[in-house]
Amino acid sequence: MKTAPRSPVYCFSVRDFDIDVEHFVAHISDAFYDLPWDEYLVRQQKIEFLKQRLSGNQLNGLGDEFWSRFYQGDIDEMSETLLLSSLHTGCPSFLPTRRRAISLFELTLSDRRWQVERRSCSGFGQCNALVDDARRQDYRVSPRNFAELDDSLVNDDLITLLRSVASRVHEARPDVPRLEIAVHHTQIVVRPGESATNAPEGIHQDGMDYIVSALVVERNNIQGGTSIVYASDKRTRLFETTLQSGQGLFQPDRGSDLWHTVTPIQPVNEAPGYRSSIGFDITLKQ
Ligand SMILES: [Fe+2]
Repeated sequence: MKTAPRSPVYCFSVRDFDIDVEHFVAHISDAFYDLPWDEYLVRQQKIEFLKQRLSGNQLNGLGDEFWSRFYQGDIDEMSETLLLSSLHTGCPSFLPTRRRAISLFELTLSDRRWQVERRSCSGFGQCNALVDDARRQDYRVSPRNFAELDDSLVNDDLITLLRSVASRVHEARPDVPRLEIAVHHTQIVVRPGESATNAPEGIHQDGMDYIVSALVVERNNIQGGTSIVYASDKRTRLFETTLQSGQGLFQPDRGSDLWHTVTPIQPVNEAPGYRSSIGFDITLKQ
């Protein structure tokens, strides 16, 4: 009997990989509150604000090189403050909304078992990333240096997850003996009366062969954060779900017909809200 092909979008629970959800969450959820802020995202928000408010003459005087240096954090604080204050209009607080750390792993198939080795990771870039709105600048293609994940978070559960994700890739691509997986631990923080997102780029592809767009660790006092997968027209919704603790979404990405996003989150009550998750960017290697 022929078995039906599996859906390319795989919504999983860590339970599927024999990981106990409560154990998995309890061991790592507190650590997300100590991750460093993603200063690139703050600078991106400042750039978008400035580009909307500065005059044509001011913009022409600055040029692309200036914005590139601004994004990389190469503009000193004084110049940045002067630029923002030159607008003579109310300026948002630009408080950070995303904490994050990165880790990189190489997985090699040997005797039907995936060997996992951690590698150092600097200059992370998603040079093949795409966004739905072609007018929108995609900041993810620039190399970014994120803090490396603390060793204490590289535990047995994470290694099991890496091997399980690799096995799923292997089902689709049994010819590929080696993978590189960049792992992103992120926490979106949303303050009362505000909205925050882990997908400032909107509907997008990450430009990786396969992805786990999110494996949710914790939803704390939030609403929203619904993951949506679109067809190639970027309008037809193929799948949507609000992932709960221990649930993740695996799918092909670069060169596939699938696009994705996640909706913003808001706090449920008058306290801050938090969404902690882990993303996997998977690259096929020979
Ligand atoms: Fe993504």
